[in-house]
Amino acid sequence: MGRLIAVSNRVATPTEAKGSVGGLAVGIFSALKDMGGIWFGWSGDVVSEAVANAGPTLEDEGPVTFATVGLTRRDYDQYYRGFSNATLWPVFHYRNDLAAYEREEYAGYRRVNAWLAHKLVTLIEPDDIVWVHDFHLIPFAESLRREGVHNRVGFFLHTPFPSPQILLNVPPHQELIKSLCCYDLVGFQTDTDRVAFHDYIVRYAGGTVGDDGEVQAYGRRLRTGVYRIGVFPDEIAQEAARNESRQQVLELKHSLEGRKLIMSVDRLDYSKGLIERFRAFEQLLERAPQWRENVTFVQVAPPTRADVESYKNIQQNLEYEAGRINGRYSGLDYTPIRYLNQRFPRSHLMSMCRESQVGFVTPLRDGMNLVAKEYVAAQNPDDPGVLVLSEFAGAAAELCGALIVNPHDIVGMSEALERALSMPLAERKQRHEANMAALRRNDLGVWRDTFLADLRGC
Ligand code: G6P
Repeated sequence: MGRLIAVSNRVATPTEAKGSVGGLAVGIFSALKDMGGIWFGWSGDVVSEAVANAGPTLEDEGPVTFATVGLTRRDYDQYYRGFSNATLWPVFHYRNDLAAYEREEYAGYRRVNAWLAHKLVTLIEPDDIVWVHDFHLIPFAESLRREGVHNRVGFFLHTPFPSPQILLNVPPHQELIKSLCCYDLVGFQTDTDRVAFHDYIVRYAGGTVGDDGEVQAYGRRLRTGVYRIGVFPDEIAQEAARNESRQQVLELKHSLEGRKLIMSVDRLDYSKGLIERFRAFEQLLERAPQWRENVTFVQVAPPTRADVESYKNIQQNLEYEAGRINGRYSGLDYTPIRYLNQRFPRSHLMSMCRESQVGFVTPLRDGMNLVAKEYVAAQNPDDPGVLVLSEFAGAAAELCGALIVNPHDIVGMSEALERALSMPLAERKQRHEANMAALRRNDLGVWRDTFLADLRGC
């Protein structure tokens, strides 16, 4: 059996990959560890043209080779900051109002995909299978084919795939989807995403979709599938329990002075519904005065993509909202919202989640949202917290023990918070067990193995 070559925009460092970062990295690394192979992508560094062209840099960690390249400033601006994060990301999250489009950036996106594919070619052997991840790399397979690569190449989209009416707003939508059809297998997080893709194929690409999910379009045949990314729940549970006595966790517990804790962890992204979430918490304090001074909301939100305009705006708006709500409801020794623009190690976050009574995860759109799954896994089964979850997170289709909310309904979310905070132990346990069963049924290994088996069978 050949090796696996995983390709993603960002490659974790060997230390990160061994367990301290989120599901995508853990998933890719666990697959690579078992099969042996290469993880190829951007190092995260902006470098001179000479250094970029000298790559890739190879670093071995057991059977896994980390192969990374730097990006020049122009490539970073056009491919990453521009077309990937200022055009595709907002549109794929149904935020056309925030999407910008520049032809040069799109040209840069295609150029960098072609350049990355060219860099990878020398590392590919005939039996290898190639698994490409996420929206940054839609034209990657097409570029590989142009380089004469005949290996099986699969693609997994970690974000939502928008309904065609939304996608039409990206001027080169047709070229993009044509490129996507160069993969042998295209995987989505949910049925909704896959149906949206099929819909585009039939209505706008003049293609066909068979009952078995085989797509024919633009002279290509490919398969599509739904592969819900998961976590390894028992590993997270152990990690959360092990770190309970960490200084930071003890400090948090001590500082709460017996108050209940609502916990949220997100990248600082407008798709996460943070403003609406802050307002829902405010509603709770307004509508249910018995909770004033008796509940603390901790929002961890490390900044991300801070050089994209829409991310600067969301940061400013959130600072304003946090200040306003705290000004309104703080006491001399009580701050209702603790808003932390910091990164914490995942193991600490999991232990903080274990301390909390409510996990508040309310994205406006999200491919899966692994925080929701990690929150569940981190709970103490004898006294579990309650997950309040947006219906627009991919995870909502699986976590039937969560309280499902519409993130635009501020009052509805505040009611769910109240219900979660007052939920009797027996109901909390029952809901937690249902969620844990779902996580175990479809863990990260299932995601990885079914995708790879389907790709091999293509
Ligand atoms: C999302 C995307 C990933 C991306 C991650 C971090 O989860 O689906 O592809 O790696 O965000 O974003 P960043 O732009 O910091 O790499």
